[in-house]
Amino acid sequence: MSKIVIDTDTSRATPTPLPGKRMTVPKIAAMKRGPGIAMEPLVMLTAYTMRQAQLLDPHCDMLLVGDSLGNVIYGLDSTVPVTLDMMINHGAAVVRGSWNAQVTVDMPFGSYEESKEVAFRNASRILKETGASAVKLEGGEAMAETIQFLTSRGIPVIGHVGLTPQAINVLGGYRARGKDDAEAEKIMRDAKAVDDAGAFCIVIEGVMEEIASTVTKAVSAPTIGIGASRDCDGQVLVTEDMLGLFERVPRFVKRYHDLAGEMTDAVTRYAAEVRSRSFPTEDQSYRPTK
Ligand code: KIV
Repeated sequence: MSKIVIDTDTSRATPTPLPGKRMTVPKIAAMKRGPGIAMEPLVMLTAYTMRQAQLLDPHCDMLLVGDSLGNVIYGLDSTVPVTLDMMINHGAAVVRGSWNAQVTVDMPFGSYEESKEVAFRNASRILKETGASAVKLEGGEAMAETIQFLTSRGIPVIGHVGLTPQAINVLGGYRARGKDDAEAEKIMRDAKAVDDAGAFCIVIEGVMEEIASTVTKAVSAPTIGIGASRDCDGQVLVTEDMLGLFERVPRFVKRYHDLAGEMTDAVTRYAAEVRSRSFPTEDQSYRPTK
C-alpha cells in the first residue's frame, strides 16, 4: 500500500509570524495627551474571522470585532438579534489570528443595558473566553455609570455615541445624527459623559462634521470616527465595506477594492472549469508515490 503524506506546514490555523507584543489599552489612551491636542491617527478596522485578522493585523493599531457581523456575516436586518455567544466565538477567532493590534469586542444588544452588574458579568465572559483586552458598548449619558463600573473593575471600555445602530427601533433609521441643535448638544453631552466615566476611546458614528470636531477637541479619550469626518483622532470602517464586498455602501465609505467583482470572476471561472472537466488537473490530484 502506498502512503499518503499530508503537508501539515500548510495548516490554515498556523499564524505566519510568531506572536509579538500587542498594542495595549494604556498605550492607546496615552497617544492623546489631553483635550484638543492632536495625535498620530489611530487605524482601526473590523475583523470577524481568524484569517481576516491575520491579514489586517500588521496594518492596524486596533481590530474591532463589531456586532456589525450580524449584518455582514449572518445576513441579519439589524444588530439587535446578535448574541453574546456569536461575539465570543468571533472574538476568539480574531484574537487567534492577530499578534500586533489591540482587539476590542462589541457587547451585543441586551448584554449590558439592564444593570452594571449584568454588564460586568457579560463583559468579563468576553475577556475570559476571547483573550481580547476591551469591550465596546453603545450609549452616552445612560451608560456612564456602567462604563465607570467596568473600567474601575479591570474591564477597559470603548464608548460609542452619535448614530448607535443597536437603538434602531428607537431611532427609526440609520440617518446621520446631529442635524439640529438639540441632537448636537445631546451627542456632546453623551461624549463628555462617556469620557468622564473612563472610556479609553470613543467611537463617533454618523454625525455632522462640526460635532465630531467639537467633541474631539473637548474629550481626553481618542475619538475614532466612522462617518464622522477627518477631524477625529482615528478612523474605523467595516472591512467588507472598504474592500468592496457589497455593491451598496453608505456615503462615508471609500471602496478601496472590488472584492465582489474579483470573487464573481473567480467563481465564474471555477464553475466553468468544473462543468467542462478542466478542473482538477494532474497538478491537483494525489497519486501513489512509487
Ligand atoms: O459594529 C461595528 O462594526 C461598529 C463599527 C461600525 C464602529 O460598531
